[in-house]
Amino acid sequence: MSCGKCGSLLDIKYEWGDDAPRDWGFFEKRWATKGMHDGKLDFSGVWRFRELMPFYRTTDDIVTIGEGRTVLQQATLLAPKIGLAPGKLFLQYEGLNPSGSFKDNGMTAAFTHARMVGARKVACASTGNTSASLALFAALSELTGVVFIGSGKISFGKLSQALDYGAMTLQIKGDFDDCLRRVRQIAVEVPEMGIYLMNSVNPFRLEGQKSIMFRILEARDWNPPDWIVVPGGNMGNCSAFGKAFMELKELGLIKKVPRLAVIVAQGANTLHRAVNEFGITWNNGEVDCIKLGALFDEMNASHYKPHTIASAIEISRPVNLPKALRAIEFMDGVVREVDDNDIMEHRALVARFGFGCEPASGASVAGAHKLIREGVIGRNQDVVCILTGHELKDPNATVKYHTGLDLKAAQDLAPREEVHGLLSNRPVLVEDTIAAIISAMGGDPKLVEGRVFKTDTKPGGAEY
Ligand code: F0G
Repeated sequence: MSCGKCGSLLDIKYEWGDDAPRDWGFFEKRWATKGMHDGKLDFSGVWRFRELMPFYRTTDDIVTIGEGRTVLQQATLLAPKIGLAPGKLFLQYEGLNPSGSFKDNGMTAAFTHARMVGARKVACASTGNTSASLALFAALSELTGVVFIGSGKISFGKLSQALDYGAMTLQIKGDFDDCLRRVRQIAVEVPEMGIYLMNSVNPFRLEGQKSIMFRILEARDWNPPDWIVVPGGNMGNCSAFGKAFMELKELGLIKKVPRLAVIVAQGANTLHRAVNEFGITWNNGEVDCIKLGALFDEMNASHYKPHTIASAIEISRPVNLPKALRAIEFMDGVVREVDDNDIMEHRALVARFGFGCEPASGASVAGAHKLIREGVIGRNQDVVCILTGHELKDPNATVKYHTGLDLKAAQDLAPREEVHGLLSNRPVLVEDTIAAIISAMGGDPKLVEGRVFKTDTKPGGAEY
């Protein structure tokens, strides 16, 4: 998944042929598709744009479960609450996906590639949504799914999905960054385990996530908005959005490119610091590794650990950071941080006016509000905020906001009961070592005896 020479993540580049779509009318005939039985590719909100992600060999390769049938809502009542003129705020409601988050857009594409290469076992590290989506797709495609989650970090809605869909769930003593490092080590450096990696280091994931932008354009009669506002965690989504617009421009399908705002949590603000404090830019692919190294050295020296109530984006070493910088440059983008209080107030505001989302998604609306107050976003501009995950992913956060009761803490302390369900699938608690993880996965820990792993921090490369 990364370049053998420089260690950077791979990217997919197409040579567009004569059959590439050159006008939007191309896609419109697909709208009449009524259900999966009637033409499952046209029914999918991802694959109805398949000519814009033509990496598959034949359409038989495509794995789809009817993902991406999401809606661009016009949030008329909410708009004035954040300083926009009525009719100017739109919410792209990705919580309506089969597993309840935007991840299904990318997972359908990565599973398609996994099928192309004959993978049998798929794995990811996750703050929750990727694992829920992976577990769902793995169950439906009869592959073995393994998910790595950080201890005590994941919200119960997401955990319950991974367990319910039957994925082996390894609860590593560490956080998301530790989990991602481990799963990458095992997928890349222990090929004997036969793992196909499903995180957004996988460039096929990002191909599918481009479709969120295509659907926004479709819902707006192909007129780009002025702004796309998205929460950033591992920075896969914002990277995919930038790539989508780069390619649409190349194909002549759009003239105007919207501006991008990536919103991070104050407690997990690496991209914000990189851009706004260290002045790091894409710089035609020559990202300043010395400055980035200085930022990571500083974080390492202070033993920085991310912390935010928006657990989905509690990530301090975003693997797609360089690609995010490319998206920011192409879309004339900005980065802002918002604190947990702002996140929760805006999540509640979204819900108060009829649309649900989890805390991380609330960050996009909080960020839009901040940019409107700063005068960066104008009152009469068209703004699309991405609601990345469904409200029911993290009901504990909502209940705590409204009542002050910390149900998660209470549940963490509660003694564990014996489980009796015929399909009970308990998470397995594992030490943060390769040998312990391999053994928990049913492998032989002797496989890795004496091996040296690439765990070093390499700014701009694959391993930071
Ligand atoms: N919003 C939600 C609800 C998420 O679950 C995530 C990421 C993001 C935003 C950030 O997207 O990583 O592409 O910048 N969740 C990942 C996961 C990390 O494991 O579910 P990103």
